Amino acid sequence: MALQIRHFIGGEWVNSLSGETFESINPATEEVIAIAQKGNAADVDAAVIFAKKAYPDWRLMPAPRRGEILYAVAQILLERKEEIARLMTQEMGKILAEARGDVQEAVDMAYYMGGEGRRLQGYTAPVEMPNKFGMAIRDSVGVVGLVTPWNFPVAVPSWKMLPALVAGNCVVWKPSEDTPAVSAAFVQAFVDAGLPPGVLNLVTGAGEAGSALVSHPNVRVISFTGSTTTGLGVYAKAATFGKKVTLEMGGKNAILVMDDANLGLAVDAINWSAFGTTGQRCTATSRLIVQKGIKSKLMEALIEKAKTIKVGYGIEPDVQMGPLVNQKALTKVESYMDVARSDGAKILIGGKRADIDKGFFFMPTIFDGVNAGMRVEQEEIFGPVLSVIEVASLDEAIHVNNNTPFGLSSSLFTENVNAAFRAIRDLTTGIVYINHGTTGAEIQFPFGGTRGTGNGMREAGSSALDSFTEWKSIYVDFSGQLQRAQIDNRE
Ligand code: UN1
Repeated sequence: MALQIRHFIGGEWVNSLSGETFESINPATEEVIAIAQKGNAADVDAAVIFAKKAYPDWRLMPAPRRGEILYAVAQILLERKEEIARLMTQEMGKILAEARGDVQEAVDMAYYMGGEGRRLQGYTAPVEMPNKFGMAIRDSVGVVGLVTPWNFPVAVPSWKMLPALVAGNCVVWKPSEDTPAVSAAFVQAFVDAGLPPGVLNLVTGAGEAGSALVSHPNVRVISFTGSTTTGLGVYAKAATFGKKVTLEMGGKNAILVMDDANLGLAVDAINWSAFGTTGQRCTATSRLIVQKGIKSKLMEALIEKAKTIKVGYGIEPDVQMGPLVNQKALTKVESYMDVARSDGAKILIGGKRADIDKGFFFMPTIFDGVNAGMRVEQEEIFGPVLSVIEVASLDEAIHVNNNTPFGLSSSLFTENVNAAFRAIRDLTTGIVYINHGTTGAEIQFPFGGTRGTGNGMREAGSSALDSFTEWKSIYVDFSGQLQRAQIDNRE
């Protein structure tokens, strides 16, 4: 029986004012797992009204108390990890072990941001006049709008929601239409942790709800993770309202392997980063930039390993790679096989759908003979597809790495400390790994990318607060005298 998913507005689970619903499909079985409310502008407006109403009390609740509610969220998520992870696997396809990791990332973030309730650090600095005090503090902004993707349906929303809440904002959240059920399960954790009504609101649905949120005049901040096309549209629309926007979009991440690399480590990391989560992470490795001398040995080991990947329904414990999220994703990934062929690349393994009756399964795929600049080397495919580019040197590898429209994550495999530090200096992505795959960012460091990956903002770490706070500078004059003339006349 399909689950019935409602909006959560003003502390109540409610139907959409649109009177319409949509289906959430299990990408492995093609069964309907949930029927969800199709949000429209009127739903978003209702959610914003409740969020605005809840804001004055929430912003005045002492931040350490807000932090304690986040600790309770962490506890509840830990207790429900298995249940939420199973729902996630059923709804968007990632294997169960990865789904557990997704929930755990939200637990980590809830503890981290819970702690921010006792920090939220501003600063003081000396001021010009005697008997005067100056400080800068972070202030909440009001109602914030979150638009999130299906690939990390709990972790990525947690990166936005938890800093927004601890800083004293109220939230209206529009998750991907591919994951309404797991989104509702996530919201339930906040409800059960005692978050006051109206502080967190969920509107499920597609583009209509998302764009109503982005253009709502009472929503001052938008934080978006998703495709580049949608993200740039969000940015342009939000700009007409003067909103602050955080964008996290595409990636075309590479692992660079030098001749002196530890081969076993590199093979394992490439395999996991390229094919884990069916390649559907914005941090996934979609390019292997490999030095000439190690290439044939590396490719042999990599192909051998990739051939052993068990593709199937991620609920089954021995399955290592699940389906793509939906039919559209499958069609897109498949279309890149012809793009690769016509550009002159060679398909070494995969290149086709898996031989499974139902579901949106595609085989782990490796393209060899890819040159810098080819479409498969430049465009985000978002599937289990790896392009291999041969280079002569570290310099060339770094150059190829840095020349795509995106700049999220990169990684170098070498045993040479000088090469490692040169790469750390010269790789122009927001995240750099040495001797580790391109995935697996931890929540206590800034997360985001350069170039077309984002707009200069970062999620996670203490930098996450920048998206959801405004600085307030405060001057307290305790001299009891008029001091203005002195400073205004200073030469
Ligand atoms: C994403 O794909 O949008 O670093 C996020 C990683 C995960 C998060 C990925 N911690 O791969």
